Amino acid sequence: MEKKNIEKARILKNQALTPEIYEMVVDVGKTLDAVPGQFLNLYCKDGSRLLPRPISICEVDEKMGTFRLIYKVLGKGTEEFTTLKENEKIEYLGPLGTGFTLEESDNKEILIIGGGVGVPPLLELSKRLKGKKRVLLGFEKESILTGDFKKVAREVTVATTTGTEGIKGTVMDLLEEGEYVPDRIYSCGPKGMLKAVQAWARERNIPMELSLEERMACGIGACLVCTCKIKEGPHIEDWNYQRVCKDGPVFNGEEVVFE
Ligand SMILES: Cc1cc2nc3c(=O)[nH]c(=O)nc-3n(C[C@H](O)[C@H](O)[C@H](O)COP(=O)(O)OP(=O)(O)OC[C@H]3O[C@@H](n4cnc5c(N)ncnc54)[C@H](O)[C@@H]3O)c2cc1C
Ligand code: FES
Repeated sequence: MEKKNIEKARILKNQALTPEIYEMVVDVGKTLDAVPGQFLNLYCKDGSRLLPRPISICEVDEKMGTFRLIYKVLGKGTEEFTTLKENEKIEYLGPLGTGFTLEESDNKEILIIGGGVGVPPLLELSKRLKGKKRVLLGFEKESILTGDFKKVAREVTVATTTGTEGIKGTVMDLLEEGEYVPDRIYSCGPKGMLKAVQAWARERNIPMELSLEERMACGIGACLVCTCKIKEGPHIEDWNYQRVCKDGPVFNGEEVVFE
């Protein structure tokens, strides 16, 4: 197994997309091999914040060696990231984790469902997946990346809970109203949304991949802080813990056991 070391990336861009959401583009100075759904662990300069912050890969240019990351300012770590200027360096580890499966799906109907900061990793996925792609995006009040998704998908529909953009409601409202009959679903977003997507897909026997988010510490499978329950057999009690950072964050959605 390839051992990864903490490395330095040069910031090419770090700008606000909305008052709370920022776009950072970094140059890692080498060619890359990354799978959609994987993430980078970004380190803070402030020594009081030792734990890295996991941020999904939104887009990657493997030849140029650049990552596009989209992050929401939540606490002190992400707040510090907003202060980083062009050409400054940021320490990172990655790409980490197990990403989405890129199945051969030329003629398949693909439904991609994202909520909030679960939306960014679905962009690189949408670019790489074949098939007839429809994208449902849910936000609180302001959408992000809608224009980028429109370039790579057949249809993009937006819902906001405030009704400021798209329909007033959630992605589940879009899903219920859309009469979709997909061959496969890919989803990333808050736990409640993923649980509802799972129930919808299960009822219709549709295969799905879900990307989970858990609080993390090491990010490399060593500390077991980030475990989730994954089904391992036919019975309800047949489950085991797996690590979101290493075995995931993307799992076969049928096997995820939500509390
Ligand atoms: C696999 C994965 C991918 C992610 N991708 C993105 C992304 O693309 N964009 C984005 O905006 N956010 C993403 N997040 C959430 C992001 O990691 C947290 O919002 C961020 O770490 C918060 O750090 P903070 O210092 O600002 O907040 P604080 O609350 O001060 O963080 C304190 C500690 O808790 C951890 N933490 C806090 N919230 C979360 C959370 N929701 N999930 C995991 N760890 C958390 C932090 O890593 C840190 O160690 C992702 C999380 C995971 C697990
Ligand atoms: S964060 Fe340490 S095992 Fe996942």
